[in-house]
Amino acid sequence: MSRKKYRWHLSGQEPTEMDLHIMQLEKEGKLVPTRDMVKTPEQIEGIRIAGRVNTGCLDAVAREIHEGMNTQEIDDICMQYCREHNAVPACLNYEGFPKSVCTSINEVVCHGIPKKEDVLKPGDIVNVDMTLSVDGYYGDASRMFIIGGATTPEKEQLVRVTKECLDLGAEAAKPYCTIGDIGHAIQVHAEKYGYGVVRDLCGHGVGLAMHEEPDILHYGRPGTGMVLVPGMVFTIEPMINMGTWKVFIDSDDPYGWEVISGDEKPSAQWEHTFLMTETGVEILSY
Ligand code: MF3
Ligand code: CO
Ligand code: CO
Repeated sequence: MSRKKYRWHLSGQEPTEMDLHIMQLEKEGKLVPTRDMVKTPEQIEGIRIAGRVNTGCLDAVAREIHEGMNTQEIDDICMQYCREHNAVPACLNYEGFPKSVCTSINEVVCHGIPKKEDVLKPGDIVNVDMTLSVDGYYGDASRMFIIGGATTPEKEQLVRVTKECLDLGAEAAKPYCTIGDIGHAIQVHAEKYGYGVVRDLCGHGVGLAMHEEPDILHYGRPGTGMVLVPGMVFTIEPMINMGTWKVFIDSDDPYGWEVISGDEKPSAQWEHTFLMTETGVEILSY
């Protein structure tokens, strides 16, 4: 990323406390956001509503997911939920993605495509990742489901530790921190267990589109990367592999979307949409 591209521009009014804080950090050589990465209160309200509807959609999946079900049926639930709530499923037709939701089973890291042939078995760990828009505002979140309620101790630990990674990343996300502070907190926790943090995919700004700047990396060094300031809305969505952090695209996927762990060991992911506030992050996908 070039430093020049990002400059904090004053709004033309008296500089606020936040303006002064950001300009000071910029002077210290920190990469600062641009003003368009900070949402207005009206936009935040819209995103909050979309986040709530998106969570309702995942709750509907949670009520119905069961062994013997295929992942196309999960897509059907999400489509139906969107229809009933005046929401647009954001993934459908996004850069050629053919379905409304991502369903990623076991060694599938993310972007799994729902299909009739993928029948859920007891002990499968499945990520369901939904993004939708309401009135042009976007919410994005994902959860893990353990099919049949139990799996191997190894996979159970992976699912639990990945959720802890999300929570620790959110805890590290303080106003005027950097993206590297979040990534570091996640990486340290995952690597304690010998897990690999996926690097080829990341969290992102969200709100007026599904994917906005900046990228939120799930690894890194404290104090590096862009500063996060109140009013920014972004996801944290660590993908944690039981083995190597490397990934590849499934050559059997005609759409070229499905991401698989490099050693085909299980992978887990949890995601929330967050608003940065004056004190820390607020979850918008509850
Ligand atoms: N929901 C995903 C994310 O967290 C985006 C999926 S894009 C798709 O960023 F096209 F694969 F659906
Ligand atoms: Co998502
Ligand atoms: Co996302």
